[in-house]
Amino acid sequence: MKKLIGSNKLKTAVFISGTGSNLKNLVKFSNLKNSPIKIELVISSNAKAKGLSFAKNLKLKSKVFSFKNRKDDIKIVRFLKKNNINFICLAGFMKILSNNFITNFNGRILNIHPSLLPKYKGLNTHQRVLDNKEKFSGCTVHLVNAKLDSGKIILQKRVKISKNDNAISLSKKILKHEHSLYPKAIKKFIFNS
Ligand code: GRF
Repeated sequence: MKKLIGSNKLKTAVFISGTGSNLKNLVKFSNLKNSPIKIELVISSNAKAKGLSFAKNLKLKSKVFSFKNRKDDIKIVRFLKKNNINFICLAGFMKILSNNFITNFNGRILNIHPSLLPKYKGLNTHQRVLDNKEKFSGCTVHLVNAKLDSGKIILQKRVKISKNDNAISLSKKILKHEHSLYPKAIKKFIFNS
């Protein structure tokens, strides 16, 4: 793999809404010598997101936006461009991006979703999987397009459901796999595209 120096790493923004465990994991990945990304910015839709205090402790530039309307989107796009961001990773991000926003970063936004897409798009995936007595669930990294959880799949990990799993235990089990999947998917997306 060719030597990556800071200047040719993708300047990346991570979007969060909550705990930020995927953010923590992506920061660790970003700090590796040969990581293809450099996390420059954390954007949160929630001023109280625990991931924000993690970002602040690491002196990572962060900003909160409400994502309530298109006016906000234009402000966010301007802010991202001002920070020379050319790659976005949604990580526990719970808002839907507008078409206008996606067009501005077309093909350069990834998301991690806690199900084996295209099954179980949307929320409460773990409970829905259990209610349907599925034997397997998992997580998916996909490109973000205008339709919810419907962009091209980059990489998936299948996780076996144990008979005594509930939504909490299953979400914890899958979250661990999300943390190993996301960096692998980013490398696959960047080096194979
Ligand atoms: C994760 O399962 C993620 O896939 C989903 O939100 C959960 C929490 O993510 N979107 P994080 O701990 O905030 O990264």
